[in-house]
Amino acid sequence: DSIDPRLVAAGSGLIDRSIFADQEIFEQEMRDVYGKSWLFVGHTSQIPDKGDYFVSQAGRDAVVVTRDADDRINVLLNVCTHRGMPVCRYDKGNAKRFTCPYHGWTFANTGDLTGLPLSSEGYGGKLDRKQWGLIKARVAIFHGSIWATFSDEAPSFDDSLGDMALMLREFMQGPDGEDDGLETIEGILKYEIHSNWKFGAENNAGDLYHDVSHNSVQRVGLALSGLRGRHVWDADKQTFKILNVAYPAGGHAARVSLYDKAGRDYQSQWAMLPEVDEYFRDAHYKRQERLGEQGRILNRGGIVFPNIAYNSAGRWQITMWVPRAPNRTEVWKWYFVPKSAPQAVKDALRHYLLRYGGPTGMVEQDDIENWASAQIGAESEAARRLPMNYTLHMGHAQWAWPEPWLGEGAYVDEGVSEHAQRVFYQRWAEMMGGVVHARELEASL
Ligand code: FES
Ligand code: FE
Repeated sequence: DSIDPRLVAAGSGLIDRSIFADQEIFEQEMRDVYGKSWLFVGHTSQIPDKGDYFVSQAGRDAVVVTRDADDRINVLLNVCTHRGMPVCRYDKGNAKRFTCPYHGWTFANTGDLTGLPLSSEGYGGKLDRKQWGLIKARVAIFHGSIWATFSDEAPSFDDSLGDMALMLREFMQGPDGEDDGLETIEGILKYEIHSNWKFGAENNAGDLYHDVSHNSVQRVGLALSGLRGRHVWDADKQTFKILNVAYPAGGHAARVSLYDKAGRDYQSQWAMLPEVDEYFRDAHYKRQERLGEQGRILNRGGIVFPNIAYNSAGRWQITMWVPRAPNRTEVWKWYFVPKSAPQAVKDALRHYLLRYGGPTGMVEQDDIENWASAQIGAESEAARRLPMNYTLHMGHAQWAWPEPWLGEGAYVDEGVSEHAQRVFYQRWAEMMGGVVHARELEASL
């Protein structure tokens, strides 16, 4: 009962509009894509002490993420095994146990069922507590980030990440290259958009083409690029190339700048705040020393399939799309700062991130408008005679890119391109039952 593979003919760069609008496809996605993928749920810095917990989402499923007395991190389905009530009703806190507000079953922060009202009178002492603990996810910790899946079939987290690990690791390490270099700014920013979750995901898979949407920010000179009044594709091509790096095996993608030389000068973006500027200048030169030639590559951001986008290089954030309905998505944003940075840097970044992102930020409101409006275009009966078009710069991507730092699984295109989006939808189609492989598709063009 998989969808017609022709719906996503990624080899032709064309995608049927129904994948953004149909309820049936949405339900299948929940089962076959979200149900079988590793999903980001949060960051260890949210639960530094034993007993700390926070609630999050693994796709459509609410979860409680806990740090237990043995310092282990658990991801528990926030659904009472008695009759379905959420056992945790707070966003975060510290607790050894959760008592369900409906009939009072009590679960330890490891998920074990520890308290059962009327245990002997009602159940004759026979209810098997082992069997009725909270449903536990498989958990992976990656440089501070926490990932979970309820699937027994999904491969290990490392296997599903593949060479994308190179990109994600650099992001999670932060500017100082520490093993676990970032911490979250207190609080997760949440808002709802009237749009399919895939519009946000694919946009962050390297849609540099939409730079035109953010013209106003460029014009007033508030873009971090400092490219006042210019598009990103007009950037100084003498000093760097834009690479769209996709990892077809997992459907992940990253946007990377490739500089001509490793020893490039620091470009000041914080001149008005000397202490902040000094921190970033210092981090820049230390990074060059640490990485040598590899420092030519600068990881700007990307996506971890299916529903996570990250931004790095000075605006560390993770955006998660929580699918609620074909045309309804919650957006959750974690903002990060380098753990070891001085407070002035943390404050400056917090102010910058709030001005830049979120529904009231200078940039993200443009995107929200785009995705909600494109949703209307996806739902239009009349528009459905034409598919969505993802053919930009098709047929240019190549394997075995000469930069070894991108990993062997990297499939790369240069410049403004819809390459990474095509790879995203190929992976999506693969999981949905329409098996298409990037190499075969590229060969058939
Ligand atoms: Fe939780 Fe009944 S639903 S105790
Ligand atoms: Fe945008």
